[in-house]
Amino acid sequence: MSTFTAPKGTYDLLPTTNSAVYQAIRDRLSAPLRRAGYGYVETPVFEDLKLFSRGVGESTDIVTKEMFTLAKRGDEELALRPEGTASVVRATLQASLHKLGNLPVKLWYSGNFYRYERPQAGRYRQFSQVGAEALGAEDPALDAELIILADDAFRSLGLRNYALLVNSLGDKQCRPVYRAALQEFLRTLVLDEDTRRRAEINPLRVLDDKRENVQVQLADAPRLRDYLCEDCKAYDEKVRELLTAAGIAFEDAPNLVRGLDYYTRTTFEFVHNGLGAQSAIGGGGRYDGLSEMLGGPALPSVGWGLGVDRTFLAMEAEGIALDLPATTSVYAVALGEEAKNVLFTKVTELRRAGVATDLAFGVKSIKNAMKSANRSGARFALIAGDRDLAEGVVQLKDMESGEQTPVALEALVPTLKEKQL
Ligand code: HAM
Repeated sequence: MSTFTAPKGTYDLLPTTNSAVYQAIRDRLSAPLRRAGYGYVETPVFEDLKLFSRGVGESTDIVTKEMFTLAKRGDEELALRPEGTASVVRATLQASLHKLGNLPVKLWYSGNFYRYERPQAGRYRQFSQVGAEALGAEDPALDAELIILADDAFRSLGLRNYALLVNSLGDKQCRPVYRAALQEFLRTLVLDEDTRRRAEINPLRVLDDKRENVQVQLADAPRLRDYLCEDCKAYDEKVRELLTAAGIAFEDAPNLVRGLDYYTRTTFEFVHNGLGAQSAIGGGGRYDGLSEMLGGPALPSVGWGLGVDRTFLAMEAEGIALDLPATTSVYAVALGEEAKNVLFTKVTELRRAGVATDLAFGVKSIKNAMKSANRSGARFALIAGDRDLAEGVVQLKDMESGEQTPVALEALVPTLKEKQL
C-alpha cells in the first residue's frame, strides 16, 4: 500500500478486477453502432466551461453542483466534461461535418466523464459511457434506430431485467405553454425553499422529485402529454410505432424529464431493476435546439449515452459472466540460459505469427514457472531444457490433458498456428 489511494468516487480497473470485462462491455455496447454507419469520434476530456453551462443548462445539477472546473489559466475557464453530447455538437460544428452533404452525421464515442456527485453504489465521480449522436435529421426513424441499437447492445451482453421508459418533452412551440401551466400549478403546492426555487427556474425537474410528500402533491399536475402540439404528437406516435414493429417493449413515462436541459421531443431511459437507486443504465433523447444554443445553425439531432460502470453492475446483478478467451494461449518455460535464448526467439516468432504467447521471466524454479503457466490460462506450455535443445525439440504440454509431446523447433510455429489458438 502506498501513501496514496484513488480519489473518492473513482476506482482502478485492473486485470484482477475485470478490466477485460469492461473492455468487452465497451466493445459490445458499440458493436451495433459500428454496424449501423456510426463513425468513431474522440473529443478532449476538458472543454470551455461555457460549452456545458450553455449546452447542458445553467439550472441543471450537473452545471450548478457537479462540474469539475479546472484552475483558471489566463483567460481560459475549463471544465472536465460531465457528458459527451455538447462536445460532439461542438466538434461537428467546428469541423463543419454537417456541411459535407451527408446528413445525419452519425458518430459514436467511448470515454470517461466527470461529475462531482456524492459517490454511492453505481454513482461515481469518474464514470464511463459509450455514446452515440446522430446530427442533422428530424426523422422519427432515427430516434427509433438509436433506441433499437441501445436495446440490441444491452441484449448482446445477456441483460434482460431492464425496462425502457419513453416520453416526449415537446418542442419550442408546445413546451413553453406546458411549462407555464405547470409552474402555475406548482405555486399552489406546499414545497420547501429549494424546490420552490427549482419550480421557478426549471419546473419540469420537480416532476422528477423522488420524495413521497412531493409525489403525492403532483398527482393532479398538468400532464405534458395533454399539451403536446400536433407535430410532436405525430412524431412521438411514429417513434412508438417503429419500436413496436421492431419488437421493442417500452413503457410510457410521462414524468421522465432527464437531468439535462437540451432535450426536446423523444426522451428515453433504460432502467435496470437490480441496481437500487442508481438504476439508469443508459439514457438519451432528441435535442433539436442544442446546436443553436451553441451558436450553430439549426441541427435537429438525437443520441444516447450508455453507462459502462452500471452495465457491469447490472450484469453482476443478473449473474451474467462473459465467456472471454484467455489472453495468453501459449506460455514458455525455459530450463537454463541456453534454452531461454532459444525460447525467447521462438516467443517473438509466435507473437508475430499471431499466437498470444508469454514467457517465464526472472529466475524461477520449474515449479513456480509452471504455476505461472497455469495462472496465465494458457492452453499450452512450451518447455525446453538443454537435453531437448540437443535433440532440436521443445516439449509441448497440453495444459488441459497434461499430455506432453516433443515438437521439432522448426515445426513449432506452424504447429501452434494450426491449432488456431
Ligand atoms: P445521462 O443520463 O446523464 O445522459 O448519462 C447517461 C448514462 O451514464 C446514465 O444512464 C448512467 O448509466 C451513466 N451515468 C451518468 N452519471 C453517472 C455517474 N455519476 N456514475 C456512473 N454512471 C453514470 C447523458 O450523459 C447524455 N449525454 C446522453 C445523451 C446523448 N443524450 C443525447 N445524446
